[in-house]
Amino acid sequence: MLTGKHILLGVTGGIAAYKSALLVREFVRAGAEVQVVMTPSATQFVTPLTFATLSRRDVIIEMFPPSPDQPTSQWTKHIDLGVWADCMIIAPATANTIAKIATGMADNFLTSLVLALRGPLVVAPTMDVDMYTNTATQHNIGVLRSRGVHIVEPEAGELASGLSGPGRLPDTPVLIEAVKNVLKGTAKDLAGRRILVTAGPTQEPIDPVRYLGNRSSGKMGFAVASAAASRGAAVTLIAGPVALATPPGVQRVDVHTAREMADAVSGHFGACDALVMSAAVADFAPASPADSKIKREALGTERFVIECVKNPDILRTAGEMRTHQVLVGFALETDNGLEHARKKRAGKKLDLIVLNDPRVDGAAFGSETNVVTLIGSDDKPEPLPRMPKLDVAHRILDRVLQLLPAAR
Ligand code: CTP
Repeated sequence: MLTGKHILLGVTGGIAAYKSALLVREFVRAGAEVQVVMTPSATQFVTPLTFATLSRRDVIIEMFPPSPDQPTSQWTKHIDLGVWADCMIIAPATANTIAKIATGMADNFLTSLVLALRGPLVVAPTMDVDMYTNTATQHNIGVLRSRGVHIVEPEAGELASGLSGPGRLPDTPVLIEAVKNVLKGTAKDLAGRRILVTAGPTQEPIDPVRYLGNRSSGKMGFAVASAAASRGAAVTLIAGPVALATPPGVQRVDVHTAREMADAVSGHFGACDALVMSAAVADFAPASPADSKIKREALGTERFVIECVKNPDILRTAGEMRTHQVLVGFALETDNGLEHARKKRAGKKLDLIVLNDPRVDGAAFGSETNVVTLIGSDDKPEPLPRMPKLDVAHRILDRVLQLLPAAR
């Protein structure tokens, strides 16, 4: 996927700049052509010679190099590179450079190039925890995101300052994956496909103010919807109650209960090519929710029993109704995961099941990352390392793409 691709790597002045050398090496190994661009302050951390040697190209730092005989002295170079690049990644990206990009400044070669860039931009914010959590930085990151810039969230951990928290540059494979995913988006390999995604929890009313629910944040399903839309699919997202923005280009249907979700799925299932059922559907609901708020005095004794009825199994029903659709389910397991997931995949007649254990580090409810194992019809597990949910989403969609009949 990276063979022959033109990648711009922007390196800004942070201690993690030394890690970008590995990134260059991996891009080159994968067959990409890499042009490194540094801000002047990045050269305080790593010498340009390191990047020039690894990328086999001159590194560009200054807009107007001091010596006129240098090849970088052509002042329109930023425009040429903006057209040349298939993708640009800035890693590490300091708070300062992020702020400049957010306001459209062009006061050095790197920021000028960003303004001239035609292709997609990936930014990996990397800085100390207080600079990262600062309202100004968060606002600027939000501005970039709203413009379609792909943000690779920093990892939490021990920082160079000795403090601890989010701010570390993610490992090289995570950054490479982000670039690959952005390139998949430009390839639009799911164009013409209709993908139905469910996300979030369901809430089953006990009375008008209380409900039975679960801790699902909806982030995984929203990531699947977002990734599918970026790859050109027509996406319908059936969402339980979550506090997440609708990804660009996605048609969203909001529901509350499992029954409402079941109705929405059955309404859209016939026309879809694939269903990715990532919602955490409540398995049971109070049998007769009260019409008005249940008062404490009315409970009487020490015990209050809620009688429940089983909810429909949406995925199982889809498995029985399927004609041509690819079906993907999730299995949330804490014990004997593989065994349970394989059984679930076969029992619900799924093409693929995504197994995860919320107790594993980096896979908790609400987390930005996930650690999953994909199991297809050959029952062979494909364990994936911990990665951002958007990257997990792309891996799931890669499998879906293989399962879909060839495009007409
Ligand atoms: N699912 C569904 N309808 C339900 C319950 C679950 O469609 N009523 C879907 C989920 O969206 C998920 C898959 O089935 O993709 C597995 O859900 P899970 O709750 O793990 O499986 P269950 O069959 O409910 O088994 P258990 O809770 O006993 O593990």
